[in-house]
Amino acid sequence: EKAGFPHFMLKEIYEQPEAIRDTLRGRLNPETGEVDLSDAELSPEFFEGLERIFIVACGTSYHAGLVGKYLFEKWAGIPVEVDLASEFRYRDVLINDRTLAIFISQSGETADTLAGLRLAKELSARVLAICNVLGSTIAREAHRVIYTHAGPEIGVASTKAFTSQLTIFLLLTLYMGRLTGRLTLERAMELSGELVELPEKVNLVIKAVHPVLKELSEKYFRQEDFLYLGRNILYPVALEGALKLKEISYIHAEGYAAGEMKHGPIALIEENVPTVALAPKEGGITYEKMLSNIEEVRSRRGPVIGFGTEGDAHLANLVTDFVGLPEVSWEVSPILYTVPLQLLAYEIAVKRGCDVDQPRNLAKSVTVE
Ligand code: F6R
Repeated sequence: EKAGFPHFMLKEIYEQPEAIRDTLRGRLNPETGEVDLSDAELSPEFFEGLERIFIVACGTSYHAGLVGKYLFEKWAGIPVEVDLASEFRYRDVLINDRTLAIFISQSGETADTLAGLRLAKELSARVLAICNVLGSTIAREAHRVIYTHAGPEIGVASTKAFTSQLTIFLLLTLYMGRLTGRLTLERAMELSGELVELPEKVNLVIKAVHPVLKELSEKYFRQEDFLYLGRNILYPVALEGALKLKEISYIHAEGYAAGEMKHGPIALIEENVPTVALAPKEGGITYEKMLSNIEEVRSRRGPVIGFGTEGDAHLANLVTDFVGLPEVSWEVSPILYTVPLQLLAYEIAVKRGCDVDQPRNLAKSVTVE
């Protein structure tokens, strides 16, 4: 049932093009840039008069929510707060009927996320769930549910469910961006064109970078501490990359907003603490900032694995090891940059002899808090 792959996790990483394609299917019209979410019974009225959006989840799903904040604030122009479900449920949240509360859960059974959903409903928010498991509790209790069509995810470490959640956020961005008018028709068409091409792009990236990362993992698998740095919309991807590595390889890994380096983590840098840096050229000002952060790490003899735009000689010269990815828009970059981080974590964990599909102490579905 692993279809020839040594682990479910690797199979699921390779299934991402299909998962993204299935998640987009029937919902996107690339000719018009229009998004149809009628399968989730979503219509413009559901989004009318919104003052605020909350996104609530745990773990990897929370990281998807963080990406959602960058997308929605830019293109829907509505303030977004992202909360860990375990925090959201025990604080005094300011919610009313002009609040949209989005709950993300692959399993649809996570105890804290479910408790948060019940609270938001009680406080009269409009409640939307993003789930992968059909008919799960969170899916049933929400006012509306948009399903990711990632298929069953067996590996404990979430991979294809995450990139499918990001795909849903892109669809919602197109939908809300057009409703509020902040997203021009022209940009919406471009973005939807990119979405249609995304599965094939992800496929090419997997094929191209897997051998590279396999080789890189030989060099790095004995390290005990890693730092992951990103900025802006790739900051949550740095968090997710670090989580993947720590949960399956038991290596201590921390994700940081690169601008926070100077405020503490730079003290950790030395030749045995590699840094994974996400620095696509398309990042504009944040690209320049990432370059200075990387220089700061290098000048303290910290090795840097740099992920950036193919052919970026400047970045390639700056870092210890360079991995190039195809050019991609800001909106879609989180999906593309997640894939190599999954493969890096996987290859390192395998070399350390870890049980990647069943990491110690972890459960696929966390139904108790
Ligand atoms: C990490 C991972 C967990 C889950 C978290 C939430 O790889 O899988 O962090 O993301 O337990 O699970 P769901 O999405 O099922 O609510």
